Amino acid sequence: MADKARLAVFISGGGSNLQAIIDASLRGELSAEVAWVVSSTPSAYGLTRARNAGIEATVVARNADESIEIYGERLLRDLQSRRIDYIALAGYLKLLPTVVVRTYRDKIVNIHPALLPKHGGKGMYGHHVHSAVIAAGDKESGVTIHLVNEAYDEGRILLQVRVSVLADDTPETLAARILVHEHEQYPKVIDKLIRGEYVNR
Ligand code: GRF
Repeated sequence: MADKARLAVFISGGGSNLQAIIDASLRGELSAEVAWVVSSTPSAYGLTRARNAGIEATVVARNADESIEIYGERLLRDLQSRRIDYIALAGYLKLLPTVVVRTYRDKIVNIHPALLPKHGGKGMYGHHVHSAVIAAGDKESGVTIHLVNEAYDEGRILLQVRVSVLADDTPETLAARILVHEHEQYPKVIDKLIRGEYVNR
C-alpha cells in the first residue's frame, strides 16, 4: 500500500477538532497521518494536544519585519520540507498566504460552525458566529466543511450538516451542539478528500 498522505492541521485555539482528527487517525479511520500542527499563537491549547500525541507542533506567525509575500514563501518552504500533502484548518484565525493556497489548491479544507454562505467572512469566528445566528432569528445553523481559496469562507462546499436552533439557545449551547457534529464529520470529509472522492463532482 502507498504511504499515507501527510496532513498538516492549522489551529489558533483549543483544538478539539484537531483532537478528533488525531483520534480518527489513531483508530485507523483516516488515510493520512497528522504530520505537523501549526498554531498562529503560542497560547493555543491545541499545541499541547499535538505534543501529547507525539506530533511536531510549531507556532508559525508573520514577523513584524516580514512582508506577507516573504512570510508566505517561508511557510510554504516549511510545509514542503515536511512533505505535507494536505492542510486542514481547524479553528485557524489567520488568512493563509496566497502562495500557499495556490500551491495546495484543492488540498486545503476548512470547517465553519454555521451554514455558509450565511454568517461567514472576516471576523466571523467562535461565539461571533453563533451570536449572529441567534440575533438573525435563524431556525437552523450547522456545520460547513469547504475547500479553501483566497477569500475567507468562500471555497467549494464539500459538506453541510443542519442543526436546529432552539428557542432558548445561547451562543454557548448552540456552539456545543454544533461541535459534536464537527468532530464527527471533519475527519470523514478529510478522509474522503484524500481518497479523491470529491474530484469532478
Ligand atoms: C470550531 O467551531 C470550528 O468550526 C471553527 O473554530 C472552532 C474551533 O474549535 N472554525 P476547536 O479549536 O477545534 O476546539
